[in-house]
Amino acid sequence: MQKIISGCILVTAFILTACNNVSKKKSSDIAIVSEQEIENAPSPKNFESTIDNKPTALYILKNGNMQVMVTNYGARIVSIIVPDKNGKPTDVAVGYAAIKPYTEGADTYFGAIVGRYGNRIAKGKFNLDGKTYSLATNDGPNHLHGGKKGFSRQVWDANQTSDSSITLTYISGDGEEGYPGTLTSKVTYTVNNNDRLKIEYAATTTSPTILNLTNHTYFNLNGEGSGTVNNHLFMINATTFTPIDSTFIPIGKLEAVKGTPFDFTTSKSLSATVNDTANRQIKNGKGYDHNFVLNTKGNIHQIAAEVSGDQSGIVMDVYTTQPGLQFYGGNFMDGSHNLKYGKKDDYRTAFCMETQHYPDSPNEPGFPSTVLKPGETFSSETIYAFSAK
Ligand code: BGC
Repeated sequence: MQKIISGCILVTAFILTACNNVSKKKSSDIAIVSEQEIENAPSPKNFESTIDNKPTALYILKNGNMQVMVTNYGARIVSIIVPDKNGKPTDVAVGYAAIKPYTEGADTYFGAIVGRYGNRIAKGKFNLDGKTYSLATNDGPNHLHGGKKGFSRQVWDANQTSDSSITLTYISGDGEEGYPGTLTSKVTYTVNNNDRLKIEYAATTTSPTILNLTNHTYFNLNGEGSGTVNNHLFMINATTFTPIDSTFIPIGKLEAVKGTPFDFTTSKSLSATVNDTANRQIKNGKGYDHNFVLNTKGNIHQIAAEVSGDQSGIVMDVYTTQPGLQFYGGNFMDGSHNLKYGKKDDYRTAFCMETQHYPDSPNEPGFPSTVLKPGETFSSETIYAFSAK
């Protein structure tokens, strides 16, 4: 608790300094922090609650210029503050200022760890060792992000091990949401002094099961709520992707990106192609909402993706041990939620880069396996590395 309070003082000081800087700037400058925004900013007090008989809280990780806020409700990232090209602290993650909106209405998955199986499973059915399992169909005919509550609306146990690192644990019971085996998942967030956020995942099970854990942070590299992300520049290190049907389920084959709107092998904005509904895949995805097959093949030392904010100059490099990356361009954002600095979650004002296994892998023998057996430990790692230019 002491850590939270001293962290809070630090954040307040940080935001106040940012505010002073901002008020001196012209209105054409990108401003993420204003007087009103200070009132709305997340505070530990606004995250203190009891849900499912467990306490929720806000945790603050800080190292060098980077600061990340995490809540144990859904192991969510609430905010990521990094310097822009002028050194101005900029919050590049979408989130709420308090715990309550995270618990209300349909889940937007802002900042959450999604599981047991992040992304979709066709018709909510899969076969494992000769038995068919049925899961909730919470996305049209399909299962999405673990079901009704998934992992994003569970209270995780939190252990902040230092000013810059926290480990969250969630034990999902045998049969929860229809999945077999008691699954223990651990997620560790660590912030280093080089503006890198590392996410480590580990999981074990008591009986064979399937899993696909990822983080669902929505980013706007110009700052939360600062307009469309269609003019950001995107590079994705993938020469193939998994085309989908009209319900977002992969049709089973890989398709080359070359010559299609899905070619991000050299950096480009989304503006020229995101509305190109003559392309069947853009039409099916309602824009970009597809899994890319990473050329990195699990090598965390090779870059998986790079995105830059067209106004802030903030660059985010993604590294991962995972084989795929779901690139979601905020096509279902509809302006119906109030974000932490008073802006709305308007259409396509954020994007997600969810490092993961391919959607519907349990029903696609040709895709890398997502089965976990007792005695094995699943582990994976993803790094979001920030810089500014
Ligand atoms: C999916 C989108 C979905 C969104 C929900 C993404 O991972 O790919 O289709 O609407 O999650 O927040």
